[in-house]
Amino acid sequence: MNSEASSGKMKKEGDKKMTILITGGAGFIGSNFVLEWVAETNEPVINLDALTYAGNLENLKTLENNSQHIFVKGDIRDRSLVAELLTTHKPRAIINFAAESHVDRSIHGPDEFIQTNIIGTFNLLECVRAYVDKLPGAERDNFRFLHVSTDEVYGSLDADAPAFSETNPYEPNSPYSASKASSDHLVRAYHHTYGLPVLTTNCSNNYGPFQFPEKLIPLIIHNALAHKPLPIYGDGLQIRDWLYVSDHCSAIRRVLQDGRSGEVYNIGGLNEKANIDIVHTLCDLLDVLRPLPGNAEITSYRDLITHVKDRPGHDRRYAIDAAKIEKDLGWQPAETFETGIRKTVEWYLDHQDWVANVTSGKYRNWVEKHYG
Ligand code: NAD
Ligand code: DAU
Repeated sequence: MNSEASSGKMKKEGDKKMTILITGGAGFIGSNFVLEWVAETNEPVINLDALTYAGNLENLKTLENNSQHIFVKGDIRDRSLVAELLTTHKPRAIINFAAESHVDRSIHGPDEFIQTNIIGTFNLLECVRAYVDKLPGAERDNFRFLHVSTDEVYGSLDADAPAFSETNPYEPNSPYSASKASSDHLVRAYHHTYGLPVLTTNCSNNYGPFQFPEKLIPLIIHNALAHKPLPIYGDGLQIRDWLYVSDHCSAIRRVLQDGRSGEVYNIGGLNEKANIDIVHTLCDLLDVLRPLPGNAEITSYRDLITHVKDRPGHDRRYAIDAAKIEKDLGWQPAETFETGIRKTVEWYLDHQDWVANVTSGKYRNWVEKHYG
């Protein structure tokens, strides 16, 4: 168990004067992070988000009247805005979640990925460099720029290869992973060249509340409930290493608190699963939690499974070796896959209004364009 989990949900005292700035906090992982941050600390959080199709303030509506959360609509590429936020709020840390995050979208149109993931991160680094240079000694020493990245930068693993460790070479295969890899390299270079106090985390596939239904797990739940085909790319035997989103958030908090400047930490769930097995699990849970009506044309949600054309350049397997973060920082995931996936299905069943609101016209255009 990590030290935070053992300290329970008591709000920490004495951190009122400090502030963190996070980017992309209206997205899936960012909004989970903000909600937990506000629940567990008293420290203000400035949330800079451009509200692209993936950003949704409804995720944060429980914080509407909470002065601990300050939302700023804006783009991480806007240098004067970022510089102004740093000067005004004087954060002790930045956590960079903002990104274009969907691999399939990066294949259809990589431009936004280059813009936000590479230029945006570069812009943040330049702003932080100028800001940190002016900080007094102790504040400079304690400042951290934490860059949230992905395991996809390491490329694809053979079936019997060991899981990705922090020393694996970078071999990104999609425009998305290449743009994230570029941003990781910039973060690394700013540490080595300018001494910027940075931390990088590379995490495996997340799942949980507030994930946009373009990603495998929420897409399958959404389609199943609508009795639509459940699209499996290729043979469905590609493997991902699944982590419940609040475990990713707790790992980021551990790295922010005790990670060593300049270090990289891999984060993963020790949950390697083939896509087809994930989809079977979801169908079986739905068969129990939302049984099909007696007059349905199918007898199980599994009957909706449809193999479709594979993703171009589809990585076969990802797996994370999380030994470093466990050994150095004492972090371990709290959820097993079985508990996490059940919570997730229950959350989507209880929040069909949220799903209905995000599956707007733009989303339907995407489904039409991508799945035909
Ligand atoms: P997401 O797509 O759900 O959210 C991204 C957020 O960034 C949105 O709120 C969006 O409005 C915002 N954003 C996009 N462009 C912006 C810009 N130019 N300026 C300001 N804000 C902008 O993404 P997510 O799944 O929550 O991922 C968050 C981060 O974690 C990303 O950096 C991603 O690469 C990384 N990551 C994700 C996973 C995963 O499984 N989802 C796993 C490992 C790492
Ligand atoms: O590994 C971390 C990465 O995980 C993050 O960096 C990305 O931001 C995040 O989107 C995720 O990338 P994936 O491509 O692995 O996630 P996605 O949910 O899109 O797909 C998971 C697997 O399911 C993948 O092998 C493709 C497959 N898939 C996906 C969709 C949307 C299908 O078979 N059918 C589908 O319709």
